[in-house]
Amino acid sequence: MAKPNKTSKKSTKKSTLKQPKTATVAAKSAVQQVEKPDPELSPSTQMLGYGYNPWWSEGSVKPPLFLTSTFLFKKAEDGEEFFKVALGKKEAKKTPGLIYSRLNNPELEILERRLAIWEKADAAAAFASGMAAISTSILAFCRPGDVVAYTQPIYGGTDHFFQHILPQFNIHPLPILPSQDPVKAIEALRDPRLRVIYVETPSNPTLQMVDIGAIDKARKVLEKKLNREIVYMVDNTMLGPVFQQPLLHGADVSLYSATKFIGGHSDLIAGAAIGSSKFISDIKTYRSFLGSMAETFTCWLMMRSLETLEVRMRTQQANAQKVAAFLQSNKEVSRVFYPGLFKKGSIQDKIRRKQTSGDGSLISFEVIGGKERAFEILNRTKICKLAVSLGGTETLIEHPKTMTHSELDEENQADCGITDGLIRLSVGIEDPKDIIQDLKNAFSTVGE
Ligand SMILES: Cc1ncc(COP(=O)(O)O)c(C=O)c1O
Repeated sequence: MAKPNKTSKKSTKKSTLKQPKTATVAAKSAVQQVEKPDPELSPSTQMLGYGYNPWWSEGSVKPPLFLTSTFLFKKAEDGEEFFKVALGKKEAKKTPGLIYSRLNNPELEILERRLAIWEKADAAAAFASGMAAISTSILAFCRPGDVVAYTQPIYGGTDHFFQHILPQFNIHPLPILPSQDPVKAIEALRDPRLRVIYVETPSNPTLQMVDIGAIDKARKVLEKKLNREIVYMVDNTMLGPVFQQPLLHGADVSLYSATKFIGGHSDLIAGAAIGSSKFISDIKTYRSFLGSMAETFTCWLMMRSLETLEVRMRTQQANAQKVAAFLQSNKEVSRVFYPGLFKKGSIQDKIRRKQTSGDGSLISFEVIGGKERAFEILNRTKICKLAVSLGGTETLIEHPKTMTHSELDEENQADCGITDGLIRLSVGIEDPKDIIQDLKNAFSTVGE
């Protein structure tokens, strides 16, 4: 990571950095410490310090906010060198120097090092939103004439980008319908223009899973047949990075709406792409010119959020398990969609066991009585807040058919299992008994 260019040089006499020996030793060992993540340490442990040396910044335990658009060069030769490295004309001797905050800055770099740890990857890129991560990544690899094959159901914004924006650049979307077996559909592809395979698993809102490893196998066969590289991307927003790591199952790039679990407090919009340097450096080149990077304060907030990511996701999951059990026992609920409730031995359950280590905290359930009944319940909850989005500390409740997935046509909604009575819950960190009581109240007061 690029060290801030001597941030503390002009500090007061009391500054620790004015004590050369101690500071030099501390800085050296800290730099060594942050060179590589420690595979013996769990990601949660490393979120508390990895990638940042407090002695770069007066001993500040937390990385300070560098609210600057540009960075001083110590001498003109440095500026020349940094630009050569940034433009790919020269390899960086150590770490690339800081130039301008759209290209790199301390927050972005520390955050990206930490993000990569979750998927045992060597690189990550942070974005202004999940859509910025998705669109920049697709544009980095696709050229006019190329085809993007993608599984449905998929987040509505991604579907819109594929169906309505990409064709304007002569990039062709190829949806794999919910009724198709995604692995067989990929195996059957013969289009020589295929450039990207894009999967979202589990899907939103019915939590259907796609076998990440099986798609990778099919991709490799296709690559040989078509004699071209096919980039494989997985949207890992729903279970990642704690409960699912697509890169370990063959994906090239793992994409996130970091607005959700990574941010985790419903107070920021951000995105991320994680993968090997080979893919992430291409994505970062596009990010630099599209200007779609996460801004400094958002990066800082995400670093704070990463410290509690696993704690939050595990607590939310434990709560969701209780809420799902309550919903399943409720006579007014005809179906509950939650990975932990997949039929034992079913294909979905096998995929779940193969590629996930937890069921997460998103639940969809169908109430008897259709939209009218669903709306009555939605209008009665108090602790479960009526809002879209997911993954935050508070429980959110919404109606996919008329809200998050209203852009899909009726036929597509029906194929995806998005019915009038379907309600989606993103379970938060409240006491689960309060969430369940809130739902009980909402059910029992209906019709009063
Ligand atoms: C699965 C998934 N991917 C991507 C996005 C887009 O993320 P953002 O809203 O941060 O742009 C969302 C947003 O809801 C999502 O649910």
